Formats: sequence, C-alpha cells, structure tokens
Amino acid sequence: MNPSNVEAQLQLWPAQDGGAPESGYRPLPSIWEGDDAELIQRMVTFYPRRTPRLILDATVNTGRFWRNSGLPVIGIDLESSHRPSVVADNRQMPFADQAFDLVVYDPPHVPNQGKDRSKDFNTRFGLVFKSPAASGYNFSHLYPPFLEEAYRVLAPEGLVFAKIADYVHGHRFQWAHLEFVTAAAKAGFMPCDCIVKIRRGPIICPRWRNAHHARRQHCYWVVLRKSPKCE
Ligand SMILES: C[S@@+](CC[C@H](N)C(=O)[O-])C[C@H]1O[C@@H](n2cnc3c(N)ncnc32)[C@H](O)[C@@H]1O
Repeated sequence: MNPSNVEAQLQLWPAQDGGAPESGYRPLPSIWEGDDAELIQRMVTFYPRRTPRLILDATVNTGRFWRNSGLPVIGIDLESSHRPSVVADNRQMPFADQAFDLVVYDPPHVPNQGKDRSKDFNTRFGLVFKSPAASGYNFSHLYPPFLEEAYRVLAPEGLVFAKIADYVHGHRFQWAHLEFVTAAAKAGFMPCDCIVKIRRGPIICPRWRNAHHARRQHCYWVVLRKSPKCE
C-alpha cells in the first residue's frame, strides 16, 4: 500500500476488524506504511488520556517529525548544528520532574557505519555515532539512562513514543527493540504497544557480498506509559 492509501486503510479498519464503525472501537493499524510525522499525529490523538500540554523530542535533529504539526514541542539534541530548542543530552535532561506529557525518542540506530557521501543518512539517521567493543558494538547502553530521565520528566500517565530498529552488526542480530522494552520495564514504565513501521528505502551498503539475514524493511514504534496499566 502506498502512503496515499493510508487514510483509506484507517477508515476501513474498524469494518475490516468486524466492529461497526459507530462502536467506538477505532484502533490504529499495527503496520504503518506512511511517514513518521503522520503516524505521530495519529498516536498523539490516540494514546494520551488527555491532550499533551508539552511534548519533548529527546532526539530532535532538525525536527522532521513536527513540521507544521502545531504541537507544543521542545526539541533537544546533542548537536548544536541541528539548532534544537535546547542543546542537551537526553541522558541528563535540563528539565524539571514531571514537566512533559509525552517524550518522543528516535535514537541513532546503527553504530559504526562507513560514511555514504551520496546521501544525508549520516546526519539524518545519526550514523556518525560509534559504539565500542565494551558496549557490544550496539547502542543498548544508551537506553537505561535515557529511560530513567524520561521517567523523571514525564507526568504520571505520560507516554514515550520510541522509534527503534533492530539490525545486523558485528556478525550478529542486534535485538534493539527487546533491549529497549526490557530496559523500559526496569525503569518503571509499562510497555503498552508496538507498531511496525515499514521503511521505504532500507540502506544497502555496496560492500556487502553475502546475505545471511533477512533485510530489515521495518522498524518499530514502541509505546510506553508511566503508569501501572495501559488502559
Ligand atoms: C536518528 S536522528 C533523529 C532524527 C529525527 N527524529 C528526525 O526525524 O529528524 C538521532 C538524533 O539524536 C541525536 N542524539 C544522539 N544521542 C543523543 C543524546 N544522548 N542526547 C540528545 N540527542 C542525541 C543525534 O545528534 C541525532 O540528531
């Protein structure tokens, strides 16, 4: 399905699921083929128990998620060149306890990549970040300190929307979304939902010769709630 059909998919969904449209049962689809910004808009109206007063994008980059959204967003990023609202580390946030109702997190996904100068992947996807052997050549060690801070700055019933991609690196499958959900539960969150986001242009490196794993064509949007219950 192409993105222009997403709206149609959403409208059809209650009927396909067997429920009458007027029943009030209007879930989001668990597979999303549109873009992230559109999905986030849907998630913002779907999951919160009340309209978010203030949203934190903890990895804002240039803010592609929020263009023309009209939502009250503060964006932080380590890199001042992206011109975030505040240059800050999401593992040590300069915000008061319970200041936000929603935290959005889209961390660098794949460490230690060579640079592909023909694309802007390096900055857009955070591919410039490295992870040493001591951290298992992956980014899972970034999750617990971020999650502790997210828990602190969220109001009760607040939400995290996290875009997490599994990947193959260092000759092994990196189960990033499992690491993230495990760390979230340890930080006190209730992991509540998971949407599969289809990626339109997965990166393929010309240096790769033999395929040993399925090529990732999706990532996940994981939903956490600062609450003992999801519903
Ligand atoms: C994958 S990009 C985010 C892309 C963004 N969601 C978008 O669509 O425009 C990850 C961003 O996180 C930032 N970042 C990485 N580690 C961070 C940290 N500890 N604290 C704050 N920002 C961080 C990077 O500089 C990069 O801009």
